[in-house]
Amino acid sequence: MKTLFAVMDPTFGATQRITIGMHTLAHGLPIAVLAASLLAMVLGPGQAPAETGDLHRLFEQRCGRCHGHAGDFARKTLTIVDGTLRGRRPDLEGFLKRHHGPQTATEAEGLYRLFFRQVEVGDEFQQRCRICHDSASDLARTRLIVVDGAVHGRYTGNDIRAFLLHHGRLAPGDAAFFHDALLQIALGRR
Ligand code: HEC
Ligand code: HEC
Repeated sequence: MKTLFAVMDPTFGATQRITIGMHTLAHGLPIAVLAASLLAMVLGPGQAPAETGDLHRLFEQRCGRCHGHAGDFARKTLTIVDGTLRGRRPDLEGFLKRHHGPQTATEAEGLYRLFFRQVEVGDEFQQRCRICHDSASDLARTRLIVVDGAVHGRYTGNDIRAFLLHHGRLAPGDAAFFHDALLQIALGRR
């Protein structure tokens, strides 16, 4: 599994970032969010992929014993308001630097982005898939497998990227968004 990650990471990071951009466009979220996504795209695949993996490891090591899985925790605790991720305190990014750290500015910003995306995916899944599927994690863990960096139906053999184009009334950009979200979950990263 480890080797698989390393091999897949470069393209994986790039794909993920581009779909965030498209996704944001498709839903007309505030420009600030879009700008942040575009910035992430520009910052590019070079540093980002390792960062995502590292952040998950960081979370497991420094945060997991109290907060469990990053994705579940983020979706339970945080919300997106006007394009900004919020907890109960006023300054989440400042909090993320100090709280059980210190975290460097880069780590805190990375955690913020990771949580943002997890909450965003959770909201989308809630609105568009939840009527029929309990949770994205259950769906990924029980029904899906990863083959060569793409998600397939464990029992159907479906190529899920293609499957989603005709499922759940998704536009192509959104199908890619959900594919990548399910891919990360299936890989156990969130
Ligand atoms: C020893 C246990 C512990 C560890 C380790 C820990 N936390 Fe927390 N965390 C808490 C508790 C308790 C709260 C709730 C405190 C409160 O809201 O008064 C909290 C709250 C939070 C919140 C919500 C803040 C808000 O404004 O609502 C976030 C986000 C958070 N933690 C992230 C992290 C991250 C990231 C790490 C790792 C770097 C981490 N925590 C490590 C115990 C922990
Ligand atoms: C109206 C109900 C409905 C909605 C809404 C819906 N699905 Fe499904 N989905 C199904 C059904 C039914 C199946 C097939 C279950 C089965 O094979 O028994 C399925 C299967 C799947 C599969 C597995 C395919 C396979 O080959 O095993 C995935 C992945 C999936 N859905 C993702 C999504 C996502 C992501 C969304 C939201 C964007 C979504 N679904 C919204 C009803 C729905």
